Amino acid sequence: MSKKSSRKTKTKAKMPPPQSLKGVYDILPQDQSHWEFIKSTVKKLAEFYGFQRVDTPIIEDTSLFIRTTGEATDIVEKQMYTFKTKGNDSLTLRPENTPGVARAYIEHGMANLQHPVKLYYFGPMFRHESPQRGRYRQFHQFGFETLGFNDPALDVQVIQLFYNILQALKIKNIIIQINSIGCPSCRPAYRAILTDYYRGHSAKLCSDCKKRLKQNPLRLLDCKQEKCVQLKNQAPQILDHLCEECHNHFKNVLEFLDELELPYILNYHLVRGLDYYTKTVFEFFTDKKEKDDELAIALGGGGRYDNLMEILGGKPTPAVGLAAGVERIISQMKYSDVKVPSPALIAKVFLAQLGTLGKKKSLKLFEQFRAAGIPIMESLGRDSVKSQIKIADRLKIRYTLILGQKEAFEGNIILRDMDSGAQETIRLDKIIDVIKKRLKKK
Ligand code: HAM
Repeated sequence: MSKKSSRKTKTKAKMPPPQSLKGVYDILPQDQSHWEFIKSTVKKLAEFYGFQRVDTPIIEDTSLFIRTTGEATDIVEKQMYTFKTKGNDSLTLRPENTPGVARAYIEHGMANLQHPVKLYYFGPMFRHESPQRGRYRQFHQFGFETLGFNDPALDVQVIQLFYNILQALKIKNIIIQINSIGCPSCRPAYRAILTDYYRGHSAKLCSDCKKRLKQNPLRLLDCKQEKCVQLKNQAPQILDHLCEECHNHFKNVLEFLDELELPYILNYHLVRGLDYYTKTVFEFFTDKKEKDDELAIALGGGGRYDNLMEILGGKPTPAVGLAAGVERIISQMKYSDVKVPSPALIAKVFLAQLGTLGKKKSLKLFEQFRAAGIPIMESLGRDSVKSQIKIADRLKIRYTLILGQKEAFEGNIILRDMDSGAQETIRLDKIIDVIKKRLKKK
């Protein structure tokens, strides 16, 4: 080996093994059953309520989020993964999917479809947050958007839909926090009153809130810092300042929630961290009692956004929607020890082989089982029949087929009943029929 190449090998050996990035993670095979259960539950219920699936790209033009989610929000200010392309375009990994769905609605002329247009999605989102419990940098949301009507019944329908999903996932003690944040005709007057109130106490505000007071005073109601929490308890409440339309809308929403007996509480401080909301806003939690050692984190949230389409240059299209955090739901399910259906161990037959001829015929036989629709497992990389039978035993598979050199040569195969240990020799060309009959008998 030359000196140069031995140096190269040494440098390579020193490289630490690669690791996933902070705040992102792998979804391993053992975790897939939770994901599958959630995906199939979401699909089933979404379709029942008339939602159709939409998948938008995870990457969008940065301006989309600035115009919709809002320039002065934490998401746009601090959390977006934004980068410049070689062509000098500014692109962003989507931090949420409502703007992408709105863009797709306008771009594909969905305004011409029968309304409401009901869309749902399931996929990864990206936010550069400090990783902690329930907060990841790549996380997954499923969400629902109902586009085209201003009716409070539709606000309640998405709430009911998500409630039903959580129920189907066996999450208990659900509580919905709800508020109205008014509309462009009543909110400015409230914002002025709120700003006046906080100006009188500005010295006591945390540094973030001092900034928010100038840019986005409603967000002060959302602050979790001790000194700001005390101030918000005395702050003027938006519900006292809603215009007649917003007041009636919210009254109807609450009446419908009562009618459906959905568990909600009014939270006058709920404003949500995104700029596009109008009227109803809400978040889903589980009762703190179940997780009394931990702070409550929202499993999902949403609201009405009647002006978003116009902001993006579309026709006026009132809309309402919500999104849920899949990781948080899984963590809640695990905490409550919810049993999920594990992917069925469907193979009833195990194919063990020995020798080149045995392997050759096994490859073909495996395909014949597939064509016959009989789930079968193999361990083609192994040569010891004993170790293959052990695997079948561990997997609790009822029948093992053994195709050794001798059997392959004679056109036979051994059928072993794993329960009794009894073995019999069967003609290779009859084995599928024999297995079919045995499986039918069971
Ligand atoms: P959001 O409240 O920003 O709303 O996110 C919805 C849910 O996503 C949260 O309640 C939480 O469960 C989950 N989530 C958010 N950030 C993280 C994170 N860093 N790690 C893990 N989970 C997280 C929206 O995204 C709006 N687009 C919802 C909406 C749809 N409004 C109307 N339509």
